[in-house]
Amino acid sequence: MTKVEMTVNGKAVAADAEGRTLLSHFLREELKLTGTHVGCDTSQCGACVVHVNGEAVKSCTMFAQEAAGADVRTIEGMAESDGSLSVIQQAFQDHHGLQCGFCTPGMVMSTAALLSENAKPTETEVREYLEGNICRCTGYHNIVKAIMAASGQDVSDIAAE
Ligand code: FES
Ligand code: FES
Repeated sequence: MTKVEMTVNGKAVAADAEGRTLLSHFLREELKLTGTHVGCDTSQCGACVVHVNGEAVKSCTMFAQEAAGADVRTIEGMAESDGSLSVIQQAFQDHHGLQCGFCTPGMVMSTAALLSENAKPTETEVREYLEGNICRCTGYHNIVKAIMAASGQDVSDIAAE
């Protein structure tokens, strides 16, 4: 066991981790930040996406020790400082971009990373970017619509599903 220190959602944290402990496990089990979901553990579903030093990362593909000293952001750090939903979260709610919600934390974190790289993505760019995020409920249409709306684009010509 090694003591691993990092910053998570702006707070310095420290907990023990074995060499094999995944960052997803560390966040959920050691830090009790259970908003980061684990759907596959094999790098396919994207439910575990967090930001590490500003980059979207599937936290099941990274060891906690690899994130030592990093600045990590999880879904728990996405709301505004007054507790209200962020623009992205609000857009998911407004455009029914979720049903069961299992994929949603990863979708929101991936969306934030996409919009920081590409402030006004096209529908095709959104769909391509989300290739690594699986949703078993929505058929993706309303997720894409929510992301387009979150980027400030007119979605009135995107038909409701
Ligand atoms: S749990 Fe990490 S990609 Fe599925
Ligand atoms: S809303 Fe259920 S998996 Fe996406």
